[in-house]
Amino acid sequence: MNARKKTKKLGLNPFFEFNNAVLYRGNVLEANTFENNFCDLIVTSPPYNVGIEYNSNEDLLNYNDYLAFTEQWLKNCYYWTKDSGRLILNIPLDKSKGGQKSVGADITTIAQKVGWKYHSTIIWNEGNISRRTAWGSFMSASAPYVIAPVELVIVLYKKEWKKIGGSKISDITKKDFMNWTNGVWTFNGESKKRIGHPAPFPKELPYRAIKLFSYVNDVVFDPFSGSGTTILVAAMNNRTGIGLEIDLDYCKLAKKRLLYELNTFGLDKFDEKNIAKQIG
Ligand SMILES: C[S@@+](CC[C@H](N)C(=O)[O-])C[C@H]1O[C@@H](n2cnc3c(N)ncnc32)[C@H](O)[C@@H]1O
Repeated sequence: MNARKKTKKLGLNPFFEFNNAVLYRGNVLEANTFENNFCDLIVTSPPYNVGIEYNSNEDLLNYNDYLAFTEQWLKNCYYWTKDSGRLILNIPLDKSKGGQKSVGADITTIAQKVGWKYHSTIIWNEGNISRRTAWGSFMSASAPYVIAPVELVIVLYKKEWKKIGGSKISDITKKDFMNWTNGVWTFNGESKKRIGHPAPFPKELPYRAIKLFSYVNDVVFDPFSGSGTTILVAAMNNRTGIGLEIDLDYCKLAKKRLLYELNTFGLDKFDEKNIAKQIG
């Protein structure tokens, strides 16, 4: 079965389809974008509401509006996920811009409100010391700022934690399993400049999530696909990668990236000329 058929999509035509990766241009807030129960694993990172300059969405909403947006997309993803499906959610621990907020705790609470069950939290230590610039009251107890250079990866599931169905084939090594079930992950973030997107995550994040939490041939979905990192890693690792992204330029970027990287990986015989023609 090809990638597109696995989405049981309703109205949308794929923006791009290549082997076992497919990208749709659309809005995660529209529940009827896909039929229910199509994906085994979601690996995603939503907008953080910290004023990042995306092309198509406002990233500095009033906090209550941001939480309402969060509730709606988490609800839709719940509907689109299979009963034994999982959601691996990369979000900030907290934020200070525009007032201190416990973003990680608030999103985790909303996820459970719409039906997701909580499994655990992984701390991603991305070693971003550049955040250590806001000291508040330097060397004074008057109003110091404490900032943790980490992000969260929340592990949630729909109904049952134990996976049923699927190929039942796991392809993780013993060493990786032992290391990654330790819930502190340490690896660097991705360069915005290198990828050409304002907030990409590194391939290592979906790679670990996919190897640890999905079977070979599972359907892996990213509703905030951005530069296409999740679908790229899924396709490279014998899964079906399905992406959704609202912005046309990021869809074009993901298409270009997938064509180059999947080709390099030897999945098909595209040459440079063919790739250029495909990208248009
Ligand atoms: C944090 S970025 C994801 C980056 C991605 N993980 C990567 O590695 O490139 C969030 C993405 O969500 C997209 N987005 C924002 N609002 C959306 C919506 N309502 N529906 C679909 N995509 C949306 C943005 O355009 C942006 O590309």
